[in-house]
Amino acid sequence: MKLIVAGSTGFVGTEVMRQALVHPAVTSIAALARRVTAVPQGAGSGADTTKLTSVVCEDFRSYSESVKRDLAGADACIWLIGLTPSEVKKMPWQEVRSICLDYTVTGLETIAQLPRDPASKSFRFLYVSGANAERDPRKKPWVLGDYCLLRGEVESHVLEHAKVSRGAVEACIAKPGLIDEPGRTGVVMKAVQTIGRSFIGLPKIDVGEIAAALLDQAINGIDTDTLLNADLVRLGQEALRARAAGRHRSP
Ligand SMILES: NC(=O)c1ccc[n+]([C@@H]2O[C@H](COP(=O)([O-])OP(=O)(O)OC[C@H]3O[C@@H](n4cnc5c(N)ncnc54)[C@H](OP(=O)(O)O)[C@@H]3O)[C@@H](O)[C@H]2O)c1
Repeated sequence: MKLIVAGSTGFVGTEVMRQALVHPAVTSIAALARRVTAVPQGAGSGADTTKLTSVVCEDFRSYSESVKRDLAGADACIWLIGLTPSEVKKMPWQEVRSICLDYTVTGLETIAQLPRDPASKSFRFLYVSGANAERDPRKKPWVLGDYCLLRGEVESHVLEHAKVSRGAVEACIAKPGLIDEPGRTGVVMKAVQTIGRSFIGLPKIDVGEIAAALLDQAINGIDTDTLLNADLVRLGQEALRARAAGRHRSP
């Protein structure tokens, strides 16, 4: 299958790339980002780097013909382009809205219309949101309220697009809590994160687990339209266990 990883240069994108490069069911990867995607550090000896095409997009509101050509024929897309809360605070709100909402909706609409073989097969779109994103505007969270409502608005757009597509698009919203990687943060930062997580009740997932869960759903089919942190942990651990035993779950 051909997989698009949008946001392939980021923290989660890099781990998705690492795992996709060794997964036998993934035959081609279009790594979509605003800059070149290199082969990730730590990609093991089993990584087939010939599968990787780096696709640099200069404008995520209007795709060039050459970018569309590179993305055509994909079976699934994992959408990881987004902003961290610290970046959100530094940007004008209109820009935050544009990156989170316009980029995602334009990306989904553009990619879903590209030619695919067979054209009758549905296109899988996995949008990575966050545990605290809220779809109901009446339930504004008290921490980062506007941002959580914006991410919830994006989730609703993605699900609505799939609903009216009459089976052409299957969508899944992944709602992880804090995504962690052993050794990524120092002791002090870890303590701050632990206090922050308990304060707002945020669950945690390992980056390897979420990458494995996303890949599993992109390859084998979407279980349900919304995957909460606990679902992602379970799916990720199952996929990693199967892989360790030499059994890649494939369609
Ligand atoms: N990390 C977490 O703990 C966590 C928890 C819950 C949800 N999430 C969500 O999961 C997704 C991926 O997270 P992550 O940790 O991998 O984030 P990340 O490391 O910041 O990566 C984000 C990706 O989006 C791209 N991006 C950011 N701003 C952009 C812009 N203006 N134009 C084009 N591309 C842009 C980045 O490109 P560059 O590499 O060029 O900057 C990168 O490829 C995000 O939506 C995030 O909100 C993350």
